[in-house]
Amino acid sequence: MKSADIRANFLKFFEQRGHKVVSSAPLLPADPELLFNIAGMVPFKPYFLGEQDPPAPTVTSVQKCLRTSDIDNVGHTARHHTFFEMLGNFSFGDYFKQQAICLAWEFLVEQMQLDPGRLWIGIFAGDSEQDLPPDSEARDIWENTVGLSSDRIIEFDASENFWTMGDTGPCGPCSEIHYDLHDTRADAAEIASLISSGDDRILELWNLVFMQFNRDQSGNLTKLPQQNIDTGLGLERLAVVMQGCQNNFETDLFQPIICQTMQLAGVESPPAEQQTALRIIADHLRAATVLLSEGLLPGNEGRGYILRRLIRRASRWGRKLGFDSAFLHQLIDPVVEIIGQPYPHLKTNLAAVRQKLRREEQQFIKILQEALNELDSRLVQLNSRENPRISGDEIFKLYETHGLPVEITTEILTDEGIQFDPDEISAAERRHRKRSQGQRGQAGDSQLDLSSLESTDFVGYEQLTLDSQVVALFQDTEPVTTLPAKTAGTVVLKQTPFYPERGGQVGDRGTIEQFTVEDTVVSSDVIAHHGHTGSEALTVGQSVTARVDRSRRQSIMRHHTATHLLQAVLREQLGDQIMQSGSFVSSDYFRFDFTCDHPIEPDLLRTIEQRVNSLIYQQNPVEISQMSRQQADAEGALAFFGEHYGEEVRVVKISGPEDNLSCELCGGTHVTNTGFIGLFVITNETSVAAGARRI
Ligand code: SER
Repeated sequence: MKSADIRANFLKFFEQRGHKVVSSAPLLPADPELLFNIAGMVPFKPYFLGEQDPPAPTVTSVQKCLRTSDIDNVGHTARHHTFFEMLGNFSFGDYFKQQAICLAWEFLVEQMQLDPGRLWIGIFAGDSEQDLPPDSEARDIWENTVGLSSDRIIEFDASENFWTMGDTGPCGPCSEIHYDLHDTRADAAEIASLISSGDDRILELWNLVFMQFNRDQSGNLTKLPQQNIDTGLGLERLAVVMQGCQNNFETDLFQPIICQTMQLAGVESPPAEQQTALRIIADHLRAATVLLSEGLLPGNEGRGYILRRLIRRASRWGRKLGFDSAFLHQLIDPVVEIIGQPYPHLKTNLAAVRQKLRREEQQFIKILQEALNELDSRLVQLNSRENPRISGDEIFKLYETHGLPVEITTEILTDEGIQFDPDEISAAERRHRKRSQGQRGQAGDSQLDLSSLESTDFVGYEQLTLDSQVVALFQDTEPVTTLPAKTAGTVVLKQTPFYPERGGQVGDRGTIEQFTVEDTVVSSDVIAHHGHTGSEALTVGQSVTARVDRSRRQSIMRHHTATHLLQAVLREQLGDQIMQSGSFVSSDYFRFDFTCDHPIEPDLLRTIEQRVNSLIYQQNPVEISQMSRQQADAEGALAFFGEHYGEEVRVVKISGPEDNLSCELCGGTHVTNTGFIGLFVITNETSVAAGARRI
C-alpha cells in the first residue's frame, strides 16, 4: 500500500467513525518558545487544557512534525528522522481508553490487515514516586475487550509509557502498539528487552496517550478538566509494514529522493557509507524543503540555525557521493512528489524554495571548502594511525582560521571514528576568548551592573508623567549615593513611565526633575535612564517627578503602529510567508526588515504605500489586551521569533471594517487609532541580507 493511500485510509477510517478531519498545522508553531511542531497533538494543546473549545469533540489529522534531538542518529539507524508525519485521532473529553484502544486495534488488524501475532502491547507500570498506579484499566481492556492473552501485554515504566509534551503541559499514561518485523517468534521477556534497547527489529507503531494531567514547572501533576485521547501513529513506520520493508528509508516516502540522488551522483551500488549519505540527504532535504516553504530562512540562531545545520549536514554528506558543488536544490521534485499532496503549501513557492536552498548551499561550500580540504587531508593522516585522536586546539583552530563551525568538525570526526575531548575544545575556546578580550584592552566598554537591583515597575503604557523615587545612581559605571550637578550618569527609579529600548523601539527621552534623560535601556528587568544632571544634584531616596517627552513618544507610537500595518499589508500583497526579521522604530522614521528573496517592484511598492494609507484614513481602532499565549496563538497573533514571551502575552490588534487587519504579540507603545498616524511614505526598499529586504 502506497503511503498516500495509508494517509487517506487513516483519515477516512476515523472520519467514518465521527471524527472531524483537520489539516496539518505548520511545522513552525505560532508559539515562539517551541522550536517546531513535534507531535500531532501540539496544535490541540489549548483544547486538552480546556482553555478553548475544540472544533469538534473528536478529530483526526496527519501532522507534519520535526524533532531534532536525534539528528546525529539519522541515517545511521533504520528509524530515526528529523521530519516525519504523524497520523492521529484525538478526543477532547469525548471517548476515552476503551474506544481509543478498540479503534486502534480495528484499524491495524481489520483495515490494514496486520498479523496480530506480530503485535505487542506496552502499558504503564505505574510510578510510586509520582503516586501513579499501574494502568490496570488498559490491561483489562486489552485482555478482556480486545481479547489478547496476558503475555502479549508488557509493563513499562514512566520513561516508556508516560507521555508529556515537554517539561510541562498535558500528559498521561500511554499504551503503545509494537510490531515485530522478524518471522521467528520471541517471548515477552525478549520483546521487552528489544523494546527497551530500541532495537530496529521492533517498530513502535502507535502511541495511545490517555491525557488526564497537566504538568507544571515544578513537575507536579494536576487533573485536567476532562479525560482526553491523543494518539500518534508513525506514517513512516506503518509504511515499512505495509510495503514489506525492513527500514524506513526503503519505503516510498524516501526511495524517490534516494533514487534521484543516486542518478545525479552517478552511483549504482552504493557501499555502506554512501548509503548512510543517501539517507541523511533524503531525511534532511525533506525537513529543509518544508521549513523553507514555510518561510523560514537559514540563520545563526534558533529555528534558522537548525535549518542551516540541516542543509549543511546534507551538503557535507553529499561529498561522500562525489558532489563538490551545490546539488540539493536539484532534488526537490521528488520531495514535492512525496509530500506535496498532503501539504499543498509546499507547491506554492517552489521556485523560491529552490533558490534559497541553492544559495545557502553555495554559500556553505564557498566558505568552508578550504577548511574541509584541510580537514580531509588531516583525516587521511589520522586514519592511518591506530587510535586516531585530534586535539581540542586543532579543532578550534579550524574554526579560528577557516570559520569551520566546531559542531561540524566534531560531527565529521565522530563519523570518521576519530577521538577528541569536548572539554579540550571548550578550553581552547576559553583561551581564545581571553586573548581577544585582552587585545581589546581597557576600552572602558564594561556595562553597568544592575543585577542586584529590584525589577523596575513600568507604568508608561498609561502614564507619561509620574511621581517616583530614585533607587540607584551611577556615575560612569560606579554606583554613587549622590550624582553631582552637571554630571553625566544613570538613574534607576522605583517606578517609571520611560519606555526602555526594546523590541526594535527606541528608548524614551524626557526629564527626571532637572536630570535630562537622553536614553532609556533595560537589563534584567531593571530600567536605567542615561543622561546628565542640570544645576542640581540627585540623591538616592529622593522623591522626583519623571516626565517623558510627550511629543517624541507620540511620534514613536505613530511609527510603531505603522510597522504593524506595513507587515499586514506585505503579507496581504506578497503572501503569508513574509515574516518580520527585524525592525527599528524611532521618532523620525522606522525601518522594517522581512523575509523575501526578491526586490519589490516600484509599482507594488506604491500599491503597498497606498494600501497602508487607506488603512490609516479608515481610522481603525487599535486594541491592546493581555491574554494567555495559547489564546493568542489561537487568534493567529504573529510573534517575532527570538523575542522571549511569557505565559501571559500582550496582543496588539487592529481591526478593519470587516475583520482583523493585524494581530501581533508586541510589548511596544501604540496609538489608539490608526488615524493618528497621519501619513505613511516609503522612502526606500533595499536588500539587507541574503533573502531579507528592508523598507
Ligand atoms: N503525543 C504522542 C506522541 O507524540 C502521541 O501522539 O507520541
